[in-house]
Amino acid sequence: MFIVANWKMNGKFSDIQQFTNIVDYIKEKNTVKLVLCLPTTLLYYASIKLTQINNKNSFLGAQDSHWQESGAYTGDISAKMVYECGARYVILGHSERRKYHCESNAIIAKKVQIALNENLKTIICVGENLNEKANATEIIKSQLKEILVDISENKIKEGYITIAYEPIWAIGTGKIPLNSEIEKVFKTIKNLLKDMYGTFLTRNIKIIYGGSVNKENAQELINISDLNGLLIGGASLKIETFMPLINIV
Ligand code: PGA
Repeated sequence: MFIVANWKMNGKFSDIQQFTNIVDYIKEKNTVKLVLCLPTTLLYYASIKLTQINNKNSFLGAQDSHWQESGAYTGDISAKMVYECGARYVILGHSERRKYHCESNAIIAKKVQIALNENLKTIICVGENLNEKANATEIIKSQLKEILVDISENKIKEGYITIAYEPIWAIGTGKIPLNSEIEKVFKTIKNLLKDMYGTFLTRNIKIIYGGSVNKENAQELINISDLNGLLIGGASLKIETFMPLINIV
């Protein structure tokens, strides 16, 4: 099971040490693969710490990377830069980026291409807002169709694509959909991917759920059929809330 921690704009250098303890703890547990998506400022330091532990099941991720390779984009960070800092994954199209940075599906599609070119594995976020809830499957289908443009078969085969279903109304609110609702969306995603890439290639694309995952609801969530992992925001920030989640998974 894949666990992606999204620290968002939180975390200090001094927080890394306790998380390296978790990495050390899961070292022998082959069932868990951990991706720590840290603020960019912490990536290089964390990568040095992680190298010392030498854990094959834990990776670093960034929370965004740019839609161009390089250039005059003051304040932005390229895919090459985050790779150089030690990230091997990147979250793209998170709803907070869409909202606060006006990211469209077209921009996210470009970011995916550049990230893949730089050998970053992409965690592509899709999800509906509360008003769109009744129409969730259609919204998600159209998001994916616009984002997954010209993806190379090789990158799919090598596991470079993960789809994170994150209903916007569930992020940071403590509310989550019923398992049956998540299963319905997952089925829609799987069917769309099968139409686009065929059954064989689709097996290499992970589908994960995110939005208010915590130690109280994780046990129930992991029963969802087709679930390959969880994307965890708030509950990944502290050892006391994150460790029980790791143990459940
Ligand atoms: P949350 O965030 O777990 O705090 O709801 C999830 C996310 O935004 O990725």
